[in-house]
Amino acid sequence: MDYKKYVKIVKDWPKEGIEFKDITPLMDNGAAYKAAIDEIVTYARSKKIDIVVGPEARGFIIGCPVSYALEVGFAPVRKEGKLPREVIKVDYGLEYGENILTIHKDAIKPGQRVLITDDLLATGGTIEATIKLVEALGGIVVGCAFLIELSYLKGLQKLDGYDVLTLMSY
Ligand code: PRP
Repeated sequence: MDYKKYVKIVKDWPKEGIEFKDITPLMDNGAAYKAAIDEIVTYARSKKIDIVVGPEARGFIIGCPVSYALEVGFAPVRKEGKLPREVIKVDYGLEYGENILTIHKDAIKPGQRVLITDDLLATGGTIEATIKLVEALGGIVVGCAFLIELSYLKGLQKLDGYDVLTLMSY
């Protein structure tokens, strides 16, 4: 499927110079959203995953339906101050800002096979931080799936050695 038809490019948002990739038209189209999720489900099934992990907020939009389809759990990675119980945390850089990501300390059991999902791979800072959290808890990252990769930001370099699925590249 030509998923790019369903991605709107918004110039200078949220800051000047950023060309924001808006995936809401894809989500708005049931067939396109399902086709994208189905591709990731097929990928995840081949990796025999135990759990899906996704960073807020758009990592949930991709990860939760995959988790539902495979009847495995979903562990949210959230910005600091959002998770109610004991967490571990990591600092990370963004295409446009800085932040801290957290995960519940008991979200992943040692040895679990983890799929990480997000809508977009830009600089790779978010995914790198998410991998650190998963591995700190003893999880094995067996795959990373994104709708979109911004190849000019070279985020894939940060994922050297990890298996990656992307449905669109800009
Ligand atoms: C966006 C996007 C990815 C991340 C990609 O999330 O959904 O998670 O940036 O950028 P990176 O590869 O340079 O780290 P954002 O932090 O804007 O959060 P949101 O989904 O809550 O809006």
